[in-house]
Amino acid sequence: MNQYKVLRWGDSRLITPSVEVEDPTGATMKKIIDIMWQVMKDYNGVGLAAPQIGINLRLMIFGLEKSDRYPDAEAVEPTVLINPGWEPLSDEIEPGWEGCLSIPDMNGIVPRYRQIRYWGLNERGEKIEREVSDFHARVFQHEYDHLDGILYPMRIEDLADFGFRTELEASGRFGRNEDIPEE
Ligand code: NI
Repeated sequence: MNQYKVLRWGDSRLITPSVEVEDPTGATMKKIIDIMWQVMKDYNGVGLAAPQIGINLRLMIFGLEKSDRYPDAEAVEPTVLINPGWEPLSDEIEPGWEGCLSIPDMNGIVPRYRQIRYWGLNERGEKIEREVSDFHARVFQHEYDHLDGILYPMRIEDLADFGFRTELEASGRFGRNEDIPEE
């Protein structure tokens, strides 16, 4: 089933803003969402935005079970968001390591709002609205950026904070057993 590959940095589809979904509960949408969960699982990601598989729609999925693999990340329930929006709840900005399925083997430090409110429709067309913080807020902002054609390196303030995971690990920039979730 999986002829869908995650597009990689350099593909112009990743820097093209996506368009609103017109029929959130249609059969096509259902199919796309199923494919996205499958791709996210295949690639071991914690989040995926539709443009990452070449689908130019404002749609994202994410979710993470609490695990030792990501000691700094709390669990995030599996979530589908169609036509999402968001706003910061405070001015507080926190730097944190990120990785992206579209930029394999690399990580960088990205500043994100620590507390946000987001909203959107789920796969049944029901409105979801949540106030979240920390890792959950970071995942959302990362995926939302994909919908605007923005990849996380475009938000890194100092490119000294960007590199290959193995080299960053070897240089002690982050813990050897601390995986950075890929989104
Ligand atoms: Ni990403």
